[in-house]
Amino acid sequence: MKLFEPIRIGPFEVRNRTAFAPTHMGHAGPRGEVTDQVLCHYSARAKGGVGLVITEGVGVLGKYAFSIGGGLVFLGDAYRRGLRNLAEVIHLGGARAVAQIIMGQGAQALFHHSRRDLVAPSEISVALAEEHMPKAMRGSGPVQGETARPMTVDEIDELVAATVEAARAMKMAGFDGVELHGAHGYLLAEFVSPYFNQRRDEYGGSFENRLRLPLRLIEEVRQAVGDRFIIGYRQSGDEHIEGGLDLAMSVQVAGRLAEAGIDYFHLSSGCYPRLNWTFPDEEGTLLPEARAFTRAIDVPVICPNVHDPKTAEQAVVEKTTDVVSLSRSLLVDPDWPNKAREGRFDEIRRCRFCCTCVKSMNRYGTGVRCTQNPELGWERFIPRYYPFA
Ligand SMILES: Cc1cc2nc3c(=O)[nH]c(=O)nc-3n(C[C@H](O)[C@H](O)[C@H](O)COP(=O)(O)O)c2cc1C
Repeated sequence: MKLFEPIRIGPFEVRNRTAFAPTHMGHAGPRGEVTDQVLCHYSARAKGGVGLVITEGVGVLGKYAFSIGGGLVFLGDAYRRGLRNLAEVIHLGGARAVAQIIMGQGAQALFHHSRRDLVAPSEISVALAEEHMPKAMRGSGPVQGETARPMTVDEIDELVAATVEAARAMKMAGFDGVELHGAHGYLLAEFVSPYFNQRRDEYGGSFENRLRLPLRLIEEVRQAVGDRFIIGYRQSGDEHIEGGLDLAMSVQVAGRLAEAGIDYFHLSSGCYPRLNWTFPDEEGTLLPEARAFTRAIDVPVICPNVHDPKTAEQAVVEKTTDVVSLSRSLLVDPDWPNKAREGRFDEIRRCRFCCTCVKSMNRYGTGVRCTQNPELGWERFIPRYYPFA
């Protein structure tokens, strides 16, 4: 299958065209550190044959709200050893390792457990209406977030510095790259979005001004990490919200990011008010959007929400996307890539789109769970997932 031919991403060859999409698991320790469960979870996915493992979002500035419990962070030297171990177990499984960096949740820090500072480009709040949630998440009523305060320019500078420092730390830890999380309406995405960004200074208003933060991040991270390191960027191809980032604008942004030196573009979709686009109820919903990006930019495009190996193969053969990223499919069955490569399609355990994973992500204190895979979250007790097994 073409899906299992190697592909070059930036300076590195990746063994095939499948990626583990960033997937927050809630397995980090109380201070956001790497635990044995984090190591065994990622070891299982890398051993399962995926080409590129992109970690869940790693937070970089402690003072801003991180409402989702158990997330990984890099907040200084104490975190280096854990991250080095994480890069190593992914490499031991034969995959390339990219760390996703999340600058903050912005106005979308809805489940604001940490009660820290809630900041965004502008004074905004976010609401989730039931009809825009994935089907399996409806029934518990709408959610209304608190109002964020606009970031000062000094705070933007501080955030850039923390992101650059984290990227440098990821390189020192042995990762092959970082992915800047500019999707799903989180803080970085909010700067680019005409819906979320109502600023009137150099970081808001015009298209150019809204691009200032991502372009600055790419430039300063590149200076810090050099050329032998992947910089990826994730963005919602369409926020699906009136006045938000739409497909045409998003393709234009991606073109500018590619010119600025990103090594891949990772598509996603939606924002919290349109959560049904971020966690679709069926597979293949983003393939038409992916095609718009592969036609327009000359860095590899990664497309999520592909669940069936045959859909994945067709998308790669027809150049709809260069790489497919799997999130829920790899939670259900970490061996999806090995089974698909060996033609054992019937042995793949399938996602039922019940979104138990997404629902358990927001339940503070527990890790993500899956109705189809009772082993998820318990990999540290299952010897075949150990790094050296
Ligand atoms: C439990 C869970 C946590 C997620 N966490 C992240 C994350 O940390 N960063 C990110 O960019 N996307 C995250 N996503 C979105 C996925 O990367 C992916 O885009 C989405 O689930 C759709 O793809 P799928 O149909 O293969 O699951 C998460 C998805 C799930 C199910």
